[in-house]
Amino acid sequence: MTVRLDATPDQVATAARRVMARCEELARVTSAPGRIERVYLSPEHARVNRLAAEWMRELGMTTHQDAAGNQIGRLEAATGAIPDRDAPALLIGSHLDTVPDAGRYDGIVGVLMGLEVVRLLRVPAPDDAWRSPFPFAIEVAAFSDEEGTRFGKALLGSSALAGTWDDDWWRLTDADGTTLREAFLDFGLDPTRLGEAARRPGDLVGYLEAHIEQGPELDRRGESLAVVSSIAGARRFQLLVEGEARHAGGTPYDMRRDALLGASEAALAIEAICRAEQHIIGTVGQLEVFPGAVNIVPGQARLSVDLRGEFDGERDRTWAAISRELDAIMGRRGLRWSGHQVHSAPAVFCAPILQDVIREGIVSTLPPGSDAPATIFSRAGHDGMALGAVTDVGMIFLRNPDGISHHPDEAVSAADVALGIRALAESVLHLAAEPR
Ligand code: GLV
Ligand code: MN
Ligand code: MN
Repeated sequence: MTVRLDATPDQVATAARRVMARCEELARVTSAPGRIERVYLSPEHARVNRLAAEWMRELGMTTHQDAAGNQIGRLEAATGAIPDRDAPALLIGSHLDTVPDAGRYDGIVGVLMGLEVVRLLRVPAPDDAWRSPFPFAIEVAAFSDEEGTRFGKALLGSSALAGTWDDDWWRLTDADGTTLREAFLDFGLDPTRLGEAARRPGDLVGYLEAHIEQGPELDRRGESLAVVSSIAGARRFQLLVEGEARHAGGTPYDMRRDALLGASEAALAIEAICRAEQHIIGTVGQLEVFPGAVNIVPGQARLSVDLRGEFDGERDRTWAAISRELDAIMGRRGLRWSGHQVHSAPAVFCAPILQDVIREGIVSTLPPGSDAPATIFSRAGHDGMALGAVTDVGMIFLRNPDGISHHPDEAVSAADVALGIRALAESVLHLAAEPR
């Protein structure tokens, strides 16, 4: 098989423009006028799934929304002229859900690039259909929940597909008290059929994901694309600090048990402990104070902790050190604290073979004699973390100007998207050329 993409620069540039235009179109599907927010099992989730399904069918893919609300399109492989519906599939994907006040590209660009890769690689079949040119099918997955914005637990969609769903999650609630189970029913999904979303290792050839970097490394290097070596393991916690609410004027300092001050010291301690570690990042992204009045010493505070690391052991030791420090802080201030974990995902190492084909794909976009492409460890979480439980994972990063993400200013250039589409399509060709 020739390992060279048969596509003109014009075709690839058109594909990239379509990706950019569709990112804009999807950005208009939001629950929050003036900003982008699209959460799991919402009316907006249903709308973007319908759009994605339309775009998949346009490419000759068969489509279905799986039992966890992931939108899947499949381009069949062929045995002679007959579609081989049992062939394993190479899965390409990312997510269509967002954080609150999101940018337009996180996740979305990877799904849309997957569709363009299908467009560039598909071949016509005698029955007027389109087929994968490989002995494997190509599927594009638009995952339904990567961010965990609504239920606090991330990677719900991809965990269902990976077959690692945990029945305890049914009791998770959103900010309105709706349980995950109720949200499934409201969306028209049957919780008892969740297992049908799961794929077996034999069903999949591997999983490839394109994503903006969500950090500044490629921008600083002046490069467009990178191979991802691994994805950080993450744990998320909700902490409760309890003190005593009392009069802001009448209560002397020596009688105060101020939960906000305990939480504030906790946030600073988390920063200090994580900064001292080379590969660990900790963030307190939510802080709420109760009862929350100007003239009351705060009696309770709730805060979130997001902890990530390249290696799970180092991350877990850091959490133990944070816990000890919280004991000390709260002890000094006469406060109690408790924490429960709402999310845990192990670090995932990208498969060497998929790193290799992605590297070859990127090299094909570079002028001859260029330095080898960068290989980067991902500090951000991705659907690949869940997929690692069922198949090999490979990821390609696109330059993200200024490294800003989870913010409306998040950006990627059409030129980098074009290079990314070419690199990803070439990667698939290289994978198909590997001896199996
Ligand atoms: C998802 O984007 C995450 O890394 O939190
Ligand atoms: Mn994100
Ligand atoms: Mn993402």
